[in-house]
Amino acid sequence: MTGALAAHDLSVRYETQHGAVHALRHVDIEAHPGEVIGIVGESGCGKSTLVTAMANLLPPNARIDGCISWNGVDLAKLDAHRQRLLRGDEIALVSQDPMTAFNPVLTIGDQLVDFQHHRRDLGRAQKRARIAAMLGRVGISDAERRMRSYPHELSGGMRQRVAIAAALLTDPGLLIADEPTTALDVTMEAQIIHLLRELRREYNGIIIVVSHHLGVIAELCDRVYVMYAGEVVEGGEVDAIFHDARHPYTQALLACDPARFHERLDRLPTIPGSLPNLTQPPSGCVYAPRCDRAFAPCNTIAPPLVKLSASHIARCHAVTTP
Ligand SMILES: Nc1ncnc2c1ncn2[C@@H]1O[C@H](COP(=O)(O)OP(=O)(O)OP(=O)(O)O)[C@@H](O)[C@H]1O
Ligand SMILES: [Mg+2]
Repeated sequence: MTGALAAHDLSVRYETQHGAVHALRHVDIEAHPGEVIGIVGESGCGKSTLVTAMANLLPPNARIDGCISWNGVDLAKLDAHRQRLLRGDEIALVSQDPMTAFNPVLTIGDQLVDFQHHRRDLGRAQKRARIAAMLGRVGISDAERRMRSYPHELSGGMRQRVAIAAALLTDPGLLIADEPTTALDVTMEAQIIHLLRELRREYNGIIIVVSHHLGVIAELCDRVYVMYAGEVVEGGEVDAIFHDARHPYTQALLACDPARFHERLDRLPTIPGSLPNLTQPPSGCVYAPRCDRAFAPCNTIAPPLVKLSASHIARCHAVTTP
């Protein structure tokens, strides 16, 4: 594990009344400072589970195996206090529903002051000045008025911007945006993407963007991990994934509509079939039941990780090294 952020052999299952849901299996990913990483895959394939695990915010019914390290430190080995500090100071998650980031009974201004609790060197007035500047940076012009508002008084797009501002006020080394655009209309979505692109230029931490939208990923990211049914099936630089995809699942995603992946698609193109039941994942390749290139071993033997270049990997029996 060499990246500032690295997950190694990471598995997560959720204990439920109907058995354990194997939401993530044997995932390896890494990210380096300055990189923008995209995570793409259809609904239910484990994207939020992965990023929530990285932010150390999984719900109590989650069981985790494997290792996540941040700057060389294994997150699981930290005590609860240090984990909380890390979450508040270094790792920020903007979740799928920005409403969950806020307390409904406090004004935006008061909450954004609280988000800076780690800055003991600053007084309240300085913190408010920092907030006004940050709100301006995320495209909110009447910052003073917004600081007096309550979360429900803001539109969805504005809440999403404020959530991003709140995350940035903590000066995180890792900013995770889980589907930053799902709750938004097309104009808002374009503005948020623009904002993330701007940040990308100024920010030397790691940004992880989770999206259904191939276009968003292609525009914003340096590297992409493609997930299917709880596994990373392919990973590599944006160019390699969009122009030289090797895994049949990635190819199917792109082949559904090759001309449109630079547009903002409302959802991933649909591939015939559906995700396997994650309470009983297939013993062979997870994609085999839907794959038109599957052959005998695919149904019984988990495919190996094939390294196609220094950064391009695919997990497939049909892929061979060049
Ligand atoms: N708290 C939970 N308890 C039980 N199962 C859960 C829980 N959270 C998620 N799951 C299940 O884990 C699997 C992965 O879910 P996850 O939310 O990580 O997927 P996702 O890729 O983020 O999907 P989406 O694109 O819809 O946000 C799904 O089968 C989901 O139903
Ligand atoms: Mg999700």
